[in-house]
Amino acid sequence: MTPNEHSAATAGEHLWLHFTRHSDATDHAIPTIVRGDGAYIYDSAGRKYLDGLSGLFVVQAGHGRTELAAAASKQASELAYFPLWSYAHPQAIALAERLAHYAPGDLNKVFFTTGGGEAVETAWKLAKQYFRLLGKPNKTKVISREIAYHGTPHGALAITGIPAIKTMFEPLVPGAIKVPNTNIYRSVEHRDDPVAFGRWAADAVEQAIIDADPSTVACVFVEPVQNAGGCFPPPPGYFERLREICDRHDVLLVSDEVICAFGRLGYMFACEKFGYVPDIITCAKGMTSGYSPIGACVISDRIAEPFWRDKVSFSHGFTFGGHPVSAAVAMANLDLFEREELNKHVATNSGLFRETLNKLYDLPIVGDVRGDGYFFGIELVKDKATRETFTDEESERLLRGFLSKALFEAGLYCRADDRGDPVVQLAPPLICGQAEFDEMEQILREVLTQAWELI
Ligand SMILES: Cc1ncc(COP(=O)(O)O)c(C=O)c1O
Repeated sequence: MTPNEHSAATAGEHLWLHFTRHSDATDHAIPTIVRGDGAYIYDSAGRKYLDGLSGLFVVQAGHGRTELAAAASKQASELAYFPLWSYAHPQAIALAERLAHYAPGDLNKVFFTTGGGEAVETAWKLAKQYFRLLGKPNKTKVISREIAYHGTPHGALAITGIPAIKTMFEPLVPGAIKVPNTNIYRSVEHRDDPVAFGRWAADAVEQAIIDADPSTVACVFVEPVQNAGGCFPPPPGYFERLREICDRHDVLLVSDEVICAFGRLGYMFACEKFGYVPDIITCAKGMTSGYSPIGACVISDRIAEPFWRDKVSFSHGFTFGGHPVSAAVAMANLDLFEREELNKHVATNSGLFRETLNKLYDLPIVGDVRGDGYFFGIELVKDKATRETFTDEESERLLRGFLSKALFEAGLYCRADDRGDPVVQLAPPLICGQAEFDEMEQILREVLTQAWELI
């Protein structure tokens, strides 16, 4: 049997799916995706779906881009593999230079990984060694936001702010402190004043640094727009103030752009959109549009400087970090980005996407539509006026029992998520336009209407 002939029915026999209840697979077949073309994917039965999540916030350029496959094939034929451990290869050199060129300020050094969680892990370790090299070995703690997802390795999981996916693995890496996120829709503070709310949320970070003792805090991790919980954009002034706070307390600001970089918000690096310059950017997913895995930390010259001193090295690395095939694919993907002006396309069309989703406000179940770029979350509520949310049991019935499957069956692959309050998340390939926005809106309208009747 070729891999494509394996049926949905056999998927669970040996294959262990990520973040998946295998018990659910007993009453329905595991969807098996065999092909992609543009914004669409096809399952093993030949059914077509709109890819409303770019796989997993990854396939920026869309599916079926043969030029990216060709770049992988060419590089594998020329030099399939070589490590970045004391040696270099041309694609890693070129890609590092390119990322440094896109990054703001003096972020000129690039440390490659194979994915986002490794990049997060790397950034925390790098911050710790940086302060140790400066004679401040007690600066080891990390601050991040509630509900934020930063990956699953032990260090990254400590930074992640979702208790339900952490508790079974405790004890995690110590010294990870949580602060409020920027969910103004659910905030009890300054709900009607975004500027005051932004100041309050940033000041909560400063308070956490002070409470922990600034001489023990190494870094703060934030996403430009927080994914988990359903797309929380930063309130006005938030990042400006966060930058000031980090500088005041000699704490590194890490912009976790594993989702937000590479066009998701219409910029190569999303910090540029919100006008701040972090000390480190972590990125991955969209760098290759998913045609091969890679991740990276982009680091400021200031932070790199002590690592370039005599006899110092960063004692850290990954066999496949900066893999030649992935680096070659990233270069081809970024060529495509520039040639097709994907960032401009997102910036021009994001407003239309928002307006199209805003039409759903006439449904009683739609409480909030929020996000930026090609990255939106729709929060579902039981009572629009009071913002009352669903009980755990209703949420279970609604999201796991009905919505995800019903949306998929209606032809839309996206994500119904309850890591915070229940949300439906949308992040389609960056090639999408009004026709795909309308298709998403129509399917959501139909399925959310049915969901309301079920509740
Ligand atoms: C903001 C953020 N950081 C880190 C990660 C972890 O990346 P990976 O799954 O590639 O390890 C993710 C994954 O979705 C993410 O969204």
